[in-house]
Amino acid sequence: MEDLYDAIARLKKERNAVILAHVYQPEEIQEIADFCGDSFGLSQEAARTDADVIVFCGVRFMAETANILSPDKITLLPAPDATCRMFDDTLEARVKAVLAQHPEYKVVSYVNTPASVKALSEICCTSSNAVKVVESLPKDQELLFVPDQDLASFTAEQTHARIIPWQSACPTHFNLTVEEVEAAKKAHPGALVLMHPECRPQVRALADYVGSTTGIVKYAEQSDREEFIIATECGVLTQLAWKCPHKKFYMAGDMVCPNMKKTTLEKVKQALETLEPRVVVPEPIAEKARVALERMLAVK
Ligand code: 13P
Ligand code: SF4
Repeated sequence: MEDLYDAIARLKKERNAVILAHVYQPEEIQEIADFCGDSFGLSQEAARTDADVIVFCGVRFMAETANILSPDKITLLPAPDATCRMFDDTLEARVKAVLAQHPEYKVVSYVNTPASVKALSEICCTSSNAVKVVESLPKDQELLFVPDQDLASFTAEQTHARIIPWQSACPTHFNLTVEEVEAAKKAHPGALVLMHPECRPQVRALADYVGSTTGIVKYAEQSDREEFIIATECGVLTQLAWKCPHKKFYMAGDMVCPNMKKTTLEKVKQALETLEPRVVVPEPIAEKARVALERMLAVK
């Protein structure tokens, strides 16, 4: 009898579909993906795929990005309720209100924002390219950095740009404490601490390396060290185990993103069968957001 894995493989072929998965996804989803990556890698992959259908295993805003960059494809989000805990319905209106007061600001928006906020932006960024994106802009320009305050402070530290941070944070990273990281270091004194920039500045001060999820995996692969304390969402352990099977990884704390865990194999199969639920970003929002995303993709 055909099992779930076989059914997904068959449907994927029939639909000429590609499965893109964020590295925070459950292990079984990363296993069936054609490409696993961070939010930047996934947007590059979505922009260049020649598949007819993109099955996006991640959160809604990343799937919206895929649809904006490849509007002629069908974008499926198997877990349609997978939002981001930084999301809030009032964000667009509040950004507009700040811009009305400060028309001189330019908005730099993180990939985890709704398309309507990307449409208000000069340029988008992700955690892997925020520094380069900001460095590509004029030095004296005031930048309203939306929505993660900790990615904003990390980018400001690295660039000394004039960044006005939005006041919100990702709870998965924000809740990690200095005490937890210190306890992990004490328990594993030979381990290096690899951390996501969405952690708070006082916690980041304890890291040996700060970078995006892909940056963390690459760092661990290339390092001659054997043990690492990981300070980002636990899904990244799947990639680390695959790419560095002989190295040891310890979580710095209990770091789980409930939204990233909403995708299941059953939902992927059903999405491929029914070609639903789709993510469609209406024009002209998509048109404006595309400009900000393409500017980001052009930054070297
Ligand atoms: P990356 O940009 O590293 O993929 O992170 C996305 C994210 O959701 C961080 O919490
Ligand atoms: Fe959003 Fe944080 Fe989850 Fe990333 S880990 S999707 S920023 S809530």
